[in-house]
Amino acid sequence: MGALAVILFLCSGVAFIVGLKLLAKPETARKGNAVSALGMLAAIVGTVVQIIGERGESFSIESLTWIGIGLGIGALVGVPAARFVKMTAMPEMVALFNGFGGVASLLIGWAQMQQALEIRSGANANIAESETGTHLVDVLSAVGGGNGHFVAATIVAAILIGGVTFSGSIIAFAKLAGKISSKPVVYKGQHLVNAGLLLLAVACGVAFAWNPGLFPVVYLVIPIAMALGVAAVISIGGGDMPVVISLLNSYSGLAACAAGFAVGSELLIITGALVGASGLILTRIMCLAMNRSLANVLFSGFGSGAPAATSSGEPGEKRDANVLSPEQAYYILEAAQSVIIVPGYGMAVAQAQHAVKELTQLLAANGTEVRFAIHPVAGRMPGHMNVLLAEADVPYEQLVEPDDVNPSMETVDVAIVIGANDVVNPAALTDEASPIFGMPIVEVHRARQVFTLKRSMGSGYAGIENPLFFLDNNAMILGDAKQTVNALVDAFKAD
Ligand code: TAP
Repeated sequence: MGALAVILFLCSGVAFIVGLKLLAKPETARKGNAVSALGMLAAIVGTVVQIIGERGESFSIESLTWIGIGLGIGALVGVPAARFVKMTAMPEMVALFNGFGGVASLLIGWAQMQQALEIRSGANANIAESETGTHLVDVLSAVGGGNGHFVAATIVAAILIGGVTFSGSIIAFAKLAGKISSKPVVYKGQHLVNAGLLLLAVACGVAFAWNPGLFPVVYLVIPIAMALGVAAVISIGGGDMPVVISLLNSYSGLAACAAGFAVGSELLIITGALVGASGLILTRIMCLAMNRSLANVLFSGFGSGAPAATSSGEPGEKRDANVLSPEQAYYILEAAQSVIIVPGYGMAVAQAQHAVKELTQLLAANGTEVRFAIHPVAGRMPGHMNVLLAEADVPYEQLVEPDDVNPSMETVDVAIVIGANDVVNPAALTDEASPIFGMPIVEVHRARQVFTLKRSMGSGYAGIENPLFFLDNNAMILGDAKQTVNALVDAFKAD
C-alpha cells in the first residue's frame, strides 16, 4: 500500500508540472487544466491509499469520513461556482480560491500543533509517550518527521502566511466584487503599522521555533496574520487587485509548502513550491507589462490621488472628438488593406467576441489583412482577451503582441479599438504626470485611422482621460461594443 501511495504521489507531482507547462500556451491550456485535474485526483486517491496502509487491520470506512465531507463540500461549492461564474468575475473567484488555500494551510499548521500538544499531554493514545519523549520539541519532531525546531518554524510559517493570504484574499475579493470601495485606504504611518505587525508575528514565530514550550505565542500569530492581510491589501487600489491576487496566489503556495514541511508531506511541498513560483512569475510579468515595480503596486496607493493632467489638455478643458456612426465607419473599413483590432475590458463586458470574429471573417473575405494586438494587461486578468477570442475560435496566428505591430503602425490603415482604453492611451508615452506613464501601450494613435468603440467618453481602469479620443485620426463610434460590431457586420452583409 505504501509503495502504491508513493507512486500515486509521484504521478500527481509529474501531472502538476506537465499541466503547468501546458497551461503556458493558449493552444494547450485546456489540456493542461485536464492533466492538472488528473494530478489532483491521483493525490486524493494516494492519500486514501496511504491512510488504508497506515491503519492496516484497524482501518474502517469511518477513517475516511473527513475526506468524504471535505470532498462533498468542495464539490458542492466548486462545481456550481466554476460552471456559472462569468468570465469577467473570474479574478474574484481566483481571489476566493487563494483565500481557501491560505486558510487550509493555516488549519493544517494549527492541527499539527494541536496534535503535538495532545500527544505531549498523553491525551492522544495513537502515539505512545515513549516514542516521542516529553518535550514538545521531541513530539514535534516525531509528528513532523524532522528537527522539532524546524517543524515548529514551518507550523508558524503555514499559520502566518496562510492567515495573511486568507484575509488579504477576502479583501481583494470584496474590492473586485464591489462589496467594498475599490479605492486604496491610505493613512499616515501606514507602512510603519504594517511593518510593526509583521515584526511582531515574526518575533512570535522565532520564539516558538526557538522554544516550542512557548507555544501560546502561536495563538497571537493568527489575529496578527489576519490583521496584516487586511492592512496590506486595503491600501491597494482595486485596479491593482489582479497583481495582488497573483501575489496572494504565490503566498498560498508558500503557505502550502510550509504546511507540507510541518506534516512531512512531499507532495504538498512540491505543489506548494510550484504554486509559489508560478504566482511570483505571473506577478512579475504583470508588473513588467504595466512598467511598474512590485513595490510601487504594493505601497504607492495607486489610484488614491486626483486624476492627473494629460499632455494634450488640462482636465475640464473642452475639446471635441470626431464621432462616426457604424455605417459611416463601414465605408472606410471596406477600403482598408490592413486592420489591427485592439480588444480590451469593454469587449469582455459586451461579450462582443463572437461578433468580432464574424467581422474579421468578412474583412478577410474582402481581402483585408486582420490582426489582433493583445496587450498583456488588457481586460482584468492575465490572458483575459486570449480566453475570449479562443472561445470565439479566433485562430491563434492572428493574435500578436504590441511589439510586433508598434514598429509598423504607420502602415496600418485602420486600428479598431474595441472596449480598450488604458492600453491605447498615448499619455503613457508622453505625460510624466500620468499614473500610467511608462506603461507600454499598443500605439494605435500612429495608425492612419483609428476607430474607438466604447459607450461614452469616460475613462478606463486607471481613471484617467485618454488624449487618443481627441486626435484628428481618431473617430469615436459610441455604443455597446457588441451592438456596434454587429452594425458593422450588417453593413458588410448589406453591401
Ligand atoms: P480599461 O482601460 O479599463 O477600459 C475599458 C473601457 O471599456 C472603458 O473605458 C469603457 O468605456 C469600455 N466599455 C465598458 N463596457 C463596454 C461595453 N459594453 N461596450 C463598449 N465599451 C465598453 O480597459 P483596458 O484598456 O483593457 O485596460 C486594462 C486596465 O486594467 C489597465 O489599466 C490595466 O493596467 C488594468 N489591469 C489589468 C490587469 C490584467 S492582468 N489584465 C491587471 C491589473 C490591472 P465606457 O464606459 O465609455 O464604455
